[in-house]
Amino acid sequence: MNNFEFYNPTRIVFGTDTTAKLDTLVPASAQVLILFGGASAKTNGTLAEVRTALGNRVIQEFGGIEPNPSYDTLTRAVEQVRKEKLDFLLAVGGGSVIDGTKFVAAAVPFEGDTWSILEQHGRNITAAMPFGSVLTLPATGSEMNSGGVVTRPAIRAKLAFQSPHTYPQFSILDPTKTFTLPPRQIANGVVDAFVHIIEQYLTYPSQAQVQDRFAEGLLQSLIETGPKALANPRDYDTRANLMWIATLALNGLIGAGVPQDWSTHMIGHELTALHGIDHARTLAIVLPASLQVRRESKREKLLQYAERVWQIREGSDEQRIDQAISRTRAFFQDMGIPTQLPDYDLAADAIDPIIAQLEAHGMTQLGEHRDVTLETSRRILETAL
Ligand code: NZQ
Ligand code: ZN
Repeated sequence: MNNFEFYNPTRIVFGTDTTAKLDTLVPASAQVLILFGGASAKTNGTLAEVRTALGNRVIQEFGGIEPNPSYDTLTRAVEQVRKEKLDFLLAVGGGSVIDGTKFVAAAVPFEGDTWSILEQHGRNITAAMPFGSVLTLPATGSEMNSGGVVTRPAIRAKLAFQSPHTYPQFSILDPTKTFTLPPRQIANGVVDAFVHIIEQYLTYPSQAQVQDRFAEGLLQSLIETGPKALANPRDYDTRANLMWIATLALNGLIGAGVPQDWSTHMIGHELTALHGIDHARTLAIVLPASLQVRRESKREKLLQYAERVWQIREGSDEQRIDQAISRTRAFFQDMGIPTQLPDYDLAADAIDPIIAQLEAHGMTQLGEHRDVTLETSRRILETAL
């Protein structure tokens, strides 16, 4: 096991009817900016509940944070906070709203060009405003981690940042808030969480017994829970399990002391930036192809994954690896997510621009061995055709 530090200061308040607890979680004297996305927070009543819970505090609102939050939109929120001298941020929504809020939290006290926060992936963040979240979409883990991803449409860039200063102080996880999610977003959430676990687990053996067993337990739980979450949208326990699995998938716990990959995410970000494909869908395209191309360097973990997650015990090593990859692909497809580039109307001529963007963003040595070069990324994308 590698050396590690584990730090996670986010308080999780989990369960039904927990939004009212905002009153004790947000300082009584806070002047709050509530940030949200499009219509969903209004139509499902969450925003009204949040306003009621905040009582007499000074509150302002900032709506319109889009999926794959845009730098320009977030910059307007930064200006509002600075101008109105607000001192607490509250995100109400999914990963995009929470990521956007993290960026605003870091950008408000930042001196200089705030785009450099993304260019330096958050390394230059030295302070951030306090913020919390009310989660409405289980998927990203943003509610209990310190990372975010921001898109700048004008230059077709989607860049990630991370900083010890950008953990939410608290996150309210009420599974009933997910009842209104359309099937597409549930499917996206299941696949995103699945790939988060894989990025931290399916690398090479590092004698990290409990991290492996946690990861395998989370993967098995997702395989059980995902289809149920689609079939029974109002089943509380199913949604509660999905919500907690997605949080645990990316709150640092299973990634402590183990090698991590993240190349599927980095290639996926370019697909979203260039073609607007939903984040989770890009992962469903890239991951099976990546496992196929990199099966030699991931051999031992692929065999462990086959046996412990999919109970594949028959056949040669190669056959078991083949089966593990095809079961993974079939799981994504069963969730309603296509896994090949042509399913998204993309053909071979889409590959060169993706490789060029990876190069422009310095994504030339990805993966747990840093051996996912541009050439390997190209082979992965060709395998997804
Ligand atoms: O905009 P509204 O109307 O609110 O609709 C949203 C949005 O269209 C809707 N929605 C959210 N909660 C709802 C709801 N609709 C009905 N009922 C509800 N309760 O869902 C749509 C998608 O929302 P979004 O926040 O974009 O989805 P998600 O949570 O999947 O977040 C995706 C973003 O997170 C980033 C992705 O790159 C992407 O930008 N990620 C963040 C990570 C992190 N911070 O650690 C890690 C991930 O790998 C990921 O990269
Ligand atoms: Zn993701």
